[in-house]
Amino acid sequence: MEFKNIVYTVDREKRIAKLVINRPDARNALNIATRVEIRQVAESLKDDESIRVLIITGAGDKAFVAGADIQEFKGVDSVTMEERQKTITQPFWHAVENLPIPVIAMINGYCLGGGNELALCCDIRIAADTAKFGQPEINLGIIPGGGATQRLPRLIGWGRAKELILTGRVIDAFEAERIGLVDRVVPAKQLEETVIQIAEAITSKSPLTIKIAKKTINKGIYTDLAAGLNFEAANFAFCFSTKDCQEGVNAYLEKRKPEFRGK
Ligand code: COA
Repeated sequence: MEFKNIVYTVDREKRIAKLVINRPDARNALNIATRVEIRQVAESLKDDESIRVLIITGAGDKAFVAGADIQEFKGVDSVTMEERQKTITQPFWHAVENLPIPVIAMINGYCLGGGNELALCCDIRIAADTAKFGQPEINLGIIPGGGATQRLPRLIGWGRAKELILTGRVIDAFEAERIGLVDRVVPAKQLEETVIQIAEAITSKSPLTIKIAKKTINKGIYTDLAAGLNFEAANFAFCFSTKDCQEGVNAYLEKRKPEFRGK
């Protein structure tokens, strides 16, 4: 695959892929072409058993992603935007959020608007202490259109999400961590090393069980408790039909390290 707006690399040995949004001169703003390229990567990873974690980050040290590309809003009417949402934008968010493998957002600078919405579609958010977060769409006379009105309140609560969306206030990484928007804040120099450590902790487990765990948690985000618990019960029981479960239990009882095969 050839890309113009992203750099996509794979560490075959570690089984970790890295996607860098590479438009530093535009603070890595998400234009349509970038969304299409990220979606291509996501689609290609859906059935790729060789990669176990995807890391998403932004090029340079200024921005993760500074939002949708505002240049592409100029002169756009509602009909065109609705069509764009249906054919490009929504399938893009869906593809990232529903990747079967875990996705880690490595947040290295401004994480605004669509950038924050991209981070919300990831499973784990790790930020540099220099990162800044916000949903500044209100300043443009629009509301967030990449899921923040729905995903942000689910993550940080209705009140905090409303405050951020209604005021457009930009917060620092420590406040983002305090309100649960990011999972960990580290000095900028340690960002990549920390993310790799987390990714490696994940790749050392059964890839099958990791996928089941992710799917089960995601189900619960968007459904009621009873349906979520039923889904968990079914998936928990399913684990007992896998070789990796037998291996994990046997290895524990035999006091050795498990060798998971994803079966
Ligand atoms: N869309 C398009 N271009 C963007 C962009 C965006 N979301 N964010 C930044 N850029 C461009 C700027 O227009 C500028 O381009 P230029 O050099 O051709 O003038 C370049 O990136 C650098 O931005 P600049 O504002 O000079 O950098 P900064 O470090 O001083 O500020 C931000 C960075 C992110 C705080 C600021 O660019 C900003 O507020 N961007 C818009 C954020 C936003 O509203 N996002 C939601 C969009 S829905």
